[in-house]
Amino acid sequence: MEPVKLPLKVLQGEPERIHAEELRESSFVVAKELSDFLASTLGPRSLQKMLVEDEGRNFIISSDGKTIMQRFDLMQFKAKHPVAILFRELSKTQDYDAGDGTTTTVVLAGELLNEARKLVGVGLHPNIIADGYKMAVDKALEILEELAFEATDEILYKVARTAIDTKYLEVAEELSRVVVEAVKIISDGGKKEANPEDVHIARKSGKEAASTTLFRGIIVEKSFLHEDMPKRVENVRVAVIDAPLTVKPEEGMFASHYLYSTRVKSLEDMLLQAEYEREILREKVERIRGAGADVIISRRLIDKRLGRMLLKIGMVAIHAVPTGQILERIAKAVNARIVTNVSEISENDLGYAEWVEEVKFPDKSTFVFIKGTNPKSVTIFLRGGAQHTLSDFARAVNDGLYAVAKALNKKVLPGGGAVEVELALRLRKFAMSDATKRQLAILAFADALEAIPKILARNSGRDPLSVLLELRKEHANGNVNYGYDARAREIRDVVEVGILESLRLKEMVIKGAYEAALIVLRSDDILYGNVLQERIEEERKKRSHSRVKK
Ligand SMILES: Nc1ncnc2c1ncn2[C@@H]1O[C@H](COP(=O)(O)OP(=O)(O)OP(=O)(O)O)[C@@H](O)[C@H]1O
Ligand SMILES: [Mg+2]
Repeated sequence: MEPVKLPLKVLQGEPERIHAEELRESSFVVAKELSDFLASTLGPRSLQKMLVEDEGRNFIISSDGKTIMQRFDLMQFKAKHPVAILFRELSKTQDYDAGDGTTTTVVLAGELLNEARKLVGVGLHPNIIADGYKMAVDKALEILEELAFEATDEILYKVARTAIDTKYLEVAEELSRVVVEAVKIISDGGKKEANPEDVHIARKSGKEAASTTLFRGIIVEKSFLHEDMPKRVENVRVAVIDAPLTVKPEEGMFASHYLYSTRVKSLEDMLLQAEYEREILREKVERIRGAGADVIISRRLIDKRLGRMLLKIGMVAIHAVPTGQILERIAKAVNARIVTNVSEISENDLGYAEWVEEVKFPDKSTFVFIKGTNPKSVTIFLRGGAQHTLSDFARAVNDGLYAVAKALNKKVLPGGGAVEVELALRLRKFAMSDATKRQLAILAFADALEAIPKILARNSGRDPLSVLLELRKEHANGNVNYGYDARAREIRDVVEVGILESLRLKEMVIKGAYEAALIVLRSDDILYGNVLQERIEEERKKRSHSRVKK
């Protein structure tokens, strides 16, 4: 496990410098503050943060660790401190790699550093702490593997529910079913790995969250190119295109004229050109039609004039699909190949849709539904809430998707702090096998892990210490699956209740937190300074030079 390498900067003049003890002390403090700040959003029944941005013009509500870390103006939060930046990166990486677990990672990193602070206070060298933590993390990963068990279909549902519960307790049941169904389809019934990116999330506010549905195809907020196009077409062949269906200037009839762009054209010229361009457009349409397509879905713009032309020959089209990723999902949903050069389109590129329909909602928003037959990409159509809660809602579904994808055909672990308490118990035993000062660091690692059940208890209104002590007792008696159920506010066998997480996620959380703590422990200097001005000039010159050469 290599620590992340931070880029070196060339510093200007005499940098402001902070030395070892001062840096370490301030790092511990900032880490703990950030971790405490996020801790209140951990688990079900936790609190949300209202983030007010742009001097009050915009606000969002979230309990998602990464969102809070990215959106909250860290400048007001000791942001100049490298630990604040490090933690922000940590949550970003965790979200990118695992899609969930960002709060736990930051909280755990903060706790590891808080424990380290106590050890430094009694004279332990940071290197010894780092070594002890390394032994603890390796052992913890080993124990996790022992505690994990295979995920069945019913377990997958519970994994989804555990992830969604932490953000949307009220509708978690309905959403979890939708999420598992989606993952099943995109993984071909669990035969191959699921990529959560193949699940498109379309949002529409206005109905209750419970009416969220799964659609075997793609839904995009768009309307058909021409308003007279039929609202619904069935059993159609679909061309998915990533090329402009317009006339490029170099294709125009006066393109070769050296004054093309500037000369004032006569009315005749203009008419001639318009006719010529229409001919080019007609040719493009004929190619697509010739290949057998009934529907065109284009990422780029389609010339307005094509609207009428397509209408006449009974074709339907949508254009300006918002992103390349959505276009890819559409292609996967109808099993089409994306066409990047219209003149080379062939029958083999086309996909097939059971139906394509334009639906107008009472609030005038319009969506196009594209229904595939054997889709490799599907849509979760999110309903409910106001706009600013919809995005947190979408993140909850996203957490569920990642959680299930990570558990599919793999192993899972009990949640609700059960794993952390069991790890702490076993690590404490393991610590005794090392008679050096590292023993203290392994014990500290165990203490840091126990912060998780404590926070889960506190956030749902129970006394953290009594919950932890009860849990310790159960685990000492061999009840490895006992954890804290925040829904019932009780200690239980969480496997029976169905509070489950993927092994892969837990591994990433523990490793991520450890690596971040390690960076802080191993640093003994911060240099504040600006990148050397001459160096920037040099770079600029180099770049303009290479541009001239081209
Ligand atoms: N019903 C429950 N009772 C107790 N704990 C639960 C329950 N459901 C989930 N948890 C626990 O909640 C924790 C996850 O909480 P949460 O989703 O808020 O944080 P995260 O996944 O670390 O971060 P984020 O979701 O913000 O990226 C896990 O430890 C999980 O075991
Ligand atoms: Mg989560």
